[in-house]
Amino acid sequence: MLMTILFLLVFNASACCGFGFKGCSQNYPETHVMWCFNQNIVNLSDVISLVPDNITTINLSKNNIRVIPPGAFGRVLSLEILDLSQNKLVSLKGGEFRGAGALVRLNLTSNNISSIHSNAFQGLTSLRSLLLPYNRLLTISPAVFNHLPAIEEVFLSLNKLKSFSCAEAGGSSTLRHLDLFANNIQTLNVSCFPNLKYIKLSNNSQLELQKDAFASNPRLKTLLLQAVEAEVLVGLSEKTKRNLTYVAFSLFVEKSPLSICDMLKGMNRLSKLKVDLKGSRSPQSNPVLLDCVTPLWLTINDANLGDVAHTPLGKGRKERLYLINCGLKRVSQTTFDSFKGVKTLQLNENKVSMQNDTFRGLTQLTFLSFDKCNIRDIDPLWFVPLKKLNCLSLTKNEIIQLEDYVFSALTNLRELYLHFNLLKFISSEAFSKLWNLRRLNLSLNIIHYIAEGSFKDLKSLSYLDLSGNRIKRLTPAILSGLVNLKKFILYNNKLHLWPGGQGTGIIGPHFFKGQGQLNSVAIGNSIMVDFHPDAFVPLVNLKYLYVAGVVLKTTNLSAVFSPLKKLKRLTLYRIDLDSLPANLMPPDNTLEMLKVQANHIRVVDKTMVDALARLRFLDITENPLTCTCDNAWFKSWAIHNTQTQVSYLYNLHCDDDRRSPYLWQFDDKTCSYEYVSFTLFLTCSLMDVLFLGACMAWHIQGPTVRYLLLILRAKLRGRRGAAGPKFQYDAFISYSSKDEAWVIQQLVPNLERPPSGAPGLRLCLHHRDFRPGTGILENIEAAIYSSRHTVCVVTRHFLRSEWCSLEFQLASLRLLCDGSDVLLLVLLEDIPEHCLSPYTRLRKIVRKKTYLLWPEKPQEQELFWVRFIDALKGNEEDEDCGRGEEELAHLIG
Ligand SMILES: *[C@@H]1O[C@H](CO)[C@@H](O)[C@H](O)[C@H]1NC(C)=O
Ligand SMILES: *[C@@H]1O[C@H](CO)[C@@H](O)[C@H](O)[C@H]1NC(C)=O
Ligand SMILES: *[C@@H]1O[C@H](CO)[C@@H](O)[C@H](O)[C@H]1NC(C)=O
Ligand SMILES: *[C@@H]1O[C@H](CO)[C@@H](O)[C@H](O)[C@H]1NC(C)=O
Ligand SMILES: *[C@@H]1O[C@H](CO)[C@@H](O)[C@H](O)[C@H]1NC(C)=O
Ligand SMILES: *[C@@H]1O[C@H](CO)[C@@H](O)[C@H](O)[C@H]1NC(C)=O
Ligand SMILES: *[C@@H]1O[C@H](CO)[C@@H](O)[C@H](O)[C@H]1NC(C)=O
Ligand SMILES: *[C@@H]1O[C@H](CO)[C@@H](O)[C@H](O)[C@H]1NC(C)=O
Ligand SMILES: *[C@@H]1O[C@H](CO)[C@@H](O)[C@H](O)[C@H]1NC(C)=O
Repeated sequence: MLMTILFLLVFNASACCGFGFKGCSQNYPETHVMWCFNQNIVNLSDVISLVPDNITTINLSKNNIRVIPPGAFGRVLSLEILDLSQNKLVSLKGGEFRGAGALVRLNLTSNNISSIHSNAFQGLTSLRSLLLPYNRLLTISPAVFNHLPAIEEVFLSLNKLKSFSCAEAGGSSTLRHLDLFANNIQTLNVSCFPNLKYIKLSNNSQLELQKDAFASNPRLKTLLLQAVEAEVLVGLSEKTKRNLTYVAFSLFVEKSPLSICDMLKGMNRLSKLKVDLKGSRSPQSNPVLLDCVTPLWLTINDANLGDVAHTPLGKGRKERLYLINCGLKRVSQTTFDSFKGVKTLQLNENKVSMQNDTFRGLTQLTFLSFDKCNIRDIDPLWFVPLKKLNCLSLTKNEIIQLEDYVFSALTNLRELYLHFNLLKFISSEAFSKLWNLRRLNLSLNIIHYIAEGSFKDLKSLSYLDLSGNRIKRLTPAILSGLVNLKKFILYNNKLHLWPGGQGTGIIGPHFFKGQGQLNSVAIGNSIMVDFHPDAFVPLVNLKYLYVAGVVLKTTNLSAVFSPLKKLKRLTLYRIDLDSLPANLMPPDNTLEMLKVQANHIRVVDKTMVDALARLRFLDITENPLTCTCDNAWFKSWAIHNTQTQVSYLYNLHCDDDRRSPYLWQFDDKTCSYEYVSFTLFLTCSLMDVLFLGACMAWHIQGPTVRYLLLILRAKLRGRRGAAGPKFQYDAFISYSSKDEAWVIQQLVPNLERPPSGAPGLRLCLHHRDFRPGTGILENIEAAIYSSRHTVCVVTRHFLRSEWCSLEFQLASLRLLCDGSDVLLLVLLEDIPEHCLSPYTRLRKIVRKKTYLLWPEKPQEQELFWVRFIDALKGNEEDEDCGRGEEELAHLIG
């Protein structure tokens, strides 16, 4: 009885629902987004059942979902965006999205869907955007649109559609955007989409269109027909052509009877044109590729134009000119003569060789790119005319070196992209005079050295990316001059510590000097980084810190982070951490998000977490968390607290082993020894008081008390007599599973069927006699109370086993509660006394030598069994005058 109450008090059962999810993590700070990306999810219902019902976005991309149970999303009433891309869906049978009436965008890209029932989208009354690219659809019925009254865009590219037809009943008057890129469509009828504005039919190589194919689509503005026979476009009716504003097509001009201008006849409203020349050369006979009026925005790709003295690209003003992969070789000052007003010029993927005056006259240019152009050297003279240039992109070239003052003419430049080149070092004047530069990307070069003062003129720079280089050491003052830097990225370098060097390789106390406005820093994936304890002192406004992929063993984290009072998000990913210091952050910190994934953290420090008063998000995945009492607080805190989400809580395994049990299921009931000891203390104190009281009463009221006690004794006797045989078992055997072999092979046969012929004993063994379906604790308690003795088979394993020590403690408790000493110890091995230190009582018993030691010699073992049985039987005889009564009798005298 008492025990039951005790247990009820001490061990509260774990509740069902807490703050943490299965397979998903609620984004922070965008708490309306549920992030379930790449979690190997198979059973959708299992995951969705834990999702809060007011979430608006769920990203389930890249999982193994094969079926969507009907109405699966019905619970999440406010769901607007659902991403189910990259799963294993094979068909939509109908009803899958019932109840998802608020859904606006559905992404089903990259599944294996081959059939869609016409009722599949039932219930999606608000859906505007449906993405189905990269599936295996052979047909789709326009009847599916009957259930989509708000649909605006549908993406069906990269399927296997052979036709797309309005023959069956169905269609949509709201659909404006239809993407049918890269199917096998031969016949098309979109008459049931009267409001269509945009249709992409490129890469349907066998497509044929009737003259009046778009007669029912008066709003059609965009028609994309690349990699389709040119005749398809030419054959369309005048009416359709007249209203088009954006057209794309392919034409091999060398062999075709048609010219680009022939294709454009009747298209008077074009503002954007994209022509794929399928590798044609400039025709020898007529070097003018285009001699008609062309739109403001012209893209020519995949040609073989060679040296072009004058670009033969039509009349009329241009604002944007893209000549992508056009085989341009030499371009000179006259090449762009007819494009004086151009604002955007892209010359990507040309092996172009430029003259020092190529851009003469392009004074209106604001955007210039030559990505992937095999450029090795940049001539500062190129840029002299480009006074208005805002953005310059030179990525994926072979630039080895930047001359001093190379960009100095570009005083209005705001963005400079130099990633993916072969830069080896940055000299001190490379970026001189770029006063207005905001963004500079130098990532993915082979920079190993940056001269001091390289960035001194970049007073406006707010974003600097140096990742993916070979920087080995950081010159203390490289950031000096960057008075407006907000975001600094330095990971993927070769930083390491230089033995004996003057703080090189270490992020020293002056590295961030003057960086009071820096907002976000990412460092890591280097060989070895160390932070000077004062490294972050200047970063008074730092909000995001990302440290990843380094050995940080020598850094004193609490010292380094102590100045970061405004830090909101801290990531310490894969940095070889064994534990988190209790004072990770300064006392008045404002940390909201802490990510410590992929370290070796076994125990979460409660003091550390308690000190993070504003923590909302904790990610501790990929750590070998132990399911021991040290983490019992963490388990229950993770489940029950309502402020901090523990990322993927219901996926956390003990020891980070997929086969081991889940942390949230780990049974921490045994961890409440503190309570047991406390209760023991209380009980003892109470008994002391009673005893004292009794003693005093004895002195004062001796005879009366003696009388009362005698009555009590008589009553006790009477009850015992009436109770009959009290014990179901003679002994409950408590042992560690590691010692099971000895118990089964030696103890059980020798006690249950003694060779001496004595009557067998009734033993209670947990693997055999515990009632299935009952809690293990109840079973243990019942076993101890229904057995006359508790035999503990003591070995080193026993001492380590949590269950055994619980059994031991409970059996000891019985001495206290009903006065019977039921414990009998069998030592299978000699255990040094210091191993027993946590068990005061065990130590006492061992000191008094009141235990049985298993002899190694076989001839002594027979005697051992005889003594064992005696010990178990011995007490049976004096049960009537058991210890409790003996003491009572003694008391009465
Ligand atoms: C969802 O509801 C919870 C409480 O029920 C609230 O704390 C939270 O702010 C809500 N989230 C959104 C995105 O509305
Ligand atoms: C999926 O999970 C739900 C809820 O946890 C369960 O009822 C159902 O049986 C599971 N389905 C499959 C196919 O495992
Ligand atoms: C879901 O995650 C994938 C992978 O990061 C991403 O490509 C996709 O855009 C996300 N979808 C949404 C709706 O955010
Ligand atoms: C849809 O899913 C694909 C594949 O995951 C992803 O690349 C794309 O960004 C997603 N689109 C939207 C609009 O979420
Ligand atoms: C997709 O489905 C087809 C059958 O429709 C099957 O043969 C194929 O293996 C599936 N592919 C994947 C990647 O599941
Ligand atoms: C498209 O289909 C509709 C309905 O079947 C038909 O009336 C119309 O003539 C067809 N249009 C074309 C261009 O074939
Ligand atoms: C589309 O067609 C072009 C030209 O034929 C080809 O280069 C490209 O690979 C095709 N794209 C796809 C996705 O089929
Ligand atoms: C061209 O567009 C106008 C206005 O957008 C529209 O009224 C007209 O019907 C369209 N013409 C054709 C032939 O589609
Ligand atoms: C430009 O280059 C040409 C030869 O390529 C050279 O003659 C001329 O002097 C150069 N102009 C300037 C200003 O350097």
